[in-house]
Amino acid sequence: MKKYLNNLPEEVKDLMRLAGKVASQNNMPAYLVGGFVRDLLLGLPNLDLDIVVEGDGVKFAQDFAHRLKAKITCHRQFGTATINLGRNLKIDIASARCEYYPEAAHLPVVRPGNLKDDLKRRDFTINTIAISINQKDRGRLIDFFHGKEDLHHKKIRILHDLSFIDDPTRIFRAIRFEQRFNFKIEPNTLKCLSQALAQEMLTKVQPQRIRDEIILILKEDRPIRLIKRMEQLISFKFVHPRLYISENIHRFLESIQRQIKWFKKNYPERRPLDVWLVYFMGLLEHLKLSQVKVICARFAFRRGETKRILNYKKLKARFILNLKKKKIKPSQIFQKLEPLSYEVIIIIKAKFKDKLIHKRIADFFEIYNGMRIVISGADLQRLGVSPGPYYQKIFSQVLNAKLNGRLRSREEELALIKKLIRNK
Ligand code: CTP
Repeated sequence: MKKYLNNLPEEVKDLMRLAGKVASQNNMPAYLVGGFVRDLLLGLPNLDLDIVVEGDGVKFAQDFAHRLKAKITCHRQFGTATINLGRNLKIDIASARCEYYPEAAHLPVVRPGNLKDDLKRRDFTINTIAISINQKDRGRLIDFFHGKEDLHHKKIRILHDLSFIDDPTRIFRAIRFEQRFNFKIEPNTLKCLSQALAQEMLTKVQPQRIRDEIILILKEDRPIRLIKRMEQLISFKFVHPRLYISENIHRFLESIQRQIKWFKKNYPERRPLDVWLVYFMGLLEHLKLSQVKVICARFAFRRGETKRILNYKKLKARFILNLKKKKIKPSQIFQKLEPLSYEVIIIIKAKFKDKLIHKRIADFFEIYNGMRIVISGADLQRLGVSPGPYYQKIFSQVLNAKLNGRLRSREEELALIKKLIRNK
């Protein structure tokens, strides 16, 4: 095993040895490529392996999966397959292909090719480095486009001047990689990026593809840096003509960042936040409800995402006034916050600096959100109440009393039910 593969976990090394065997038995040379190799050279952990096979990649993948007794998903029409090994370990396998773009900003036409063809169609030089996993030269680094040098000099460089015209989503990818690795988009690449923008190439891309790129940007660690760079290089007018990052929005995003950190630190066991969505709601802060609705529809955000975005946008001033009232019972706080998503609650906390609001939100997460009553339907049945919608009413009254600190034991819960039944 050569030095480039030496640093991999043992399990991955074994996998690559086996892949090399399968490759030689099928007479189909195979290579590790893409983000996996880039991260390996950067010394960053990455367990999303990408293999390119010169030949029928699906056949290779099926043989490989069979040897591994692993589950495989094939996409015959694209000549690709994915082997999922669990524990976050995934192998994407593709047949080497040659690509050309008959029309700018549309999906390319594809035909079989060799490794070099396959690497040539890629976005940036740092993503074009390959490592052989073949038995005869396992571990050999293949670097047709000087990717290693660009990695070393921290440069994001396209392979040819029409790269952003062919695929304008690379504009977002350039910013993503630049900020993620603390690299620089080199001058000619920057020039081509600006030219593509001047030709309004983003308007030619399917909005759903743009949405996916925005989400990826906002999912990066510390996305504020990326948002700033986006504003500087692209501006957010492609999302909505009225969308821009003012000083206020910038401060708001920083506050959002603090609150996300607070949530993650204090409630690691809860449902993970859709962090990107909180930042996205923050970006839209200055827009009107009607404008936000247009954005959600145009970029085809999913139903659950649109719902959370609009729920926040529709919050009334009265809601906040009530939440910071001096006298408010825990059950009332619960009833206000429970119907909202965690994302909306976190953005409320980021927006309003009021101490009482912060305390109430913390109490909600700390106490009320996890509070359960002990009595069950069986208890109600034993007390002669036949099942029906009345059950829910009783449960919520008992929960309210418990939230307000009036019930401390199962006996007290039962006593309250009896009283409720008597007074029905
Ligand atoms: N690619 C490309 N143009 C795109 C998208 C992808 O050329 N618009 C190429 C890149 O060379 C990349 C490979 O396809 O290495 C795989 O894409 P993806 O999985 O998105 O890239 P990664 O580099 O693995 O990105 P990440 O680290 O964010 O997962």
